[in-house]
Amino acid sequence: MSSNSHRLETMLLHAGWRADPATGAVAVPIYQTTSYQFRDTEHASNLFALKELGNIYTRIMNPTNDVLEKRVAALEGGAAGLALASGQAASAFALQNLAKAGDNIVSSTDLYGGTWNLFAHTLKDQGIEVRFVDPIDPQNFLRATDDRTRAYYAESLPNPKLTVFPIAEVAAVGRPLGIPLIVDNTATPFLLRPLEHGAAIVVYSTTKYLGGHGNSIGGLIIDGGNFDWAAHPERQPALNTPDPSYHGAVWTEAVKPIGPVAYAIKARVTLLRDIGASLSPFNAFLIIQGLETLALRMNQHCKNAQAVVDFLRTRKEIRRIIHPSQQQASTANAPTGTSMATSADWSGSSWPAARRQGASSSMHCSFTTMSPTSATRGALPSIQRRRRIRSSPKKSSSQPAFRTVTYAFQWASSISTTSSPTSSTVSRLHRGH
Ligand SMILES: Cc1ncc(COP(=O)(O)O)c(C=O)c1O
Repeated sequence: MSSNSHRLETMLLHAGWRADPATGAVAVPIYQTTSYQFRDTEHASNLFALKELGNIYTRIMNPTNDVLEKRVAALEGGAAGLALASGQAASAFALQNLAKAGDNIVSSTDLYGGTWNLFAHTLKDQGIEVRFVDPIDPQNFLRATDDRTRAYYAESLPNPKLTVFPIAEVAAVGRPLGIPLIVDNTATPFLLRPLEHGAAIVVYSTTKYLGGHGNSIGGLIIDGGNFDWAAHPERQPALNTPDPSYHGAVWTEAVKPIGPVAYAIKARVTLLRDIGASLSPFNAFLIIQGLETLALRMNQHCKNAQAVVDFLRTRKEIRRIIHPSQQQASTANAPTGTSMATSADWSGSSWPAARRQGASSSMHCSFTTMSPTSATRGALPSIQRRRRIRSSPKKSSSQPAFRTVTYAFQWASSISTTSSPTSSTVSRLHRGH
């Protein structure tokens, strides 16, 4: 199904699948198989040599997973997808597909903690350096770039910070240098399409909103098909030099007849083949069921979060509300320390442009309590000063001493938009339950 000719809601229901050719079944079947029958040895040989596309082994591809991949690729306006066992696997593969020991990545500091650990420790141990920069100034990405920089990385609406990332600005810094921007869009599917703003690759933890029911861990990489990997061969050697693990294939050449999907194919037939972080077809089926209601759920999450924001704004106990729609308001209302914290968020010239990307109506909302310790009060301004200049990956030093609570969407969904959370609910959240 063409991604141009249908509304996103329609693609969430139908992209990538019409009916089973053998039985006519309309619902996506669960192809719970490890292996596939080859017509003959030549067929098998052609599949392995990528002369013909088809199923080889479920560690590498599966027809149920294929529907999920096609559906989310269509949703994003991308060229191809790769389903993986988790969002963590998707983040790791997205970078390992381009970088090897001695190379580096420049990443936003505003990341989910698990991604931070992966970048600051595990990838580092593998010889891939991740340089963390403050996205408040997109030029920070350029400043941290050198000849061995292979990609830029960010979250569109970072978990849990919720400061909208300036996709267009950072993508524009990287493209002339042959550096793709990889965006983790876990928090804003359907609300924001990073490829439209210049990102080259989109990463998802499908575990969250895409799946929506809390029953399956999963991940996805979407290849935008919009990045000219061959234009800067010295910048992207992984895609432009012979790959000894696949009979010396040069991916940008070998995949050309199939389309602009060299990045996705390489990740599938090398990293997924070798590391084996495959998504179970059963989980792919459950995630596909979730996709069917994504549009409805995302809209409702936004309304629910807004209802929570509206309620919290009326409460004098609340010191700061972290929600894209509230960043200016909380600056104006906040006492000195917090005021500096939020005004730092606003001083970036790219913020209004980032908001235009469409993520301003996020379903996320977090808040901090009114009663920080005196130590916290003193720490806030210096936390923000550090944030502007920080380049070393010391996550713990940037953690505010006050407690921040991020609403899980399930919780937000459980609040009716006509009723407000009780103060006991709020204090329960403050305690982190
Ligand atoms: C933004 C983001 N990216 C990636 C992940 C990792 O996903 P998973 O738990 O599916 O491995 C998470 C998990 O919370 C996340 O919030």
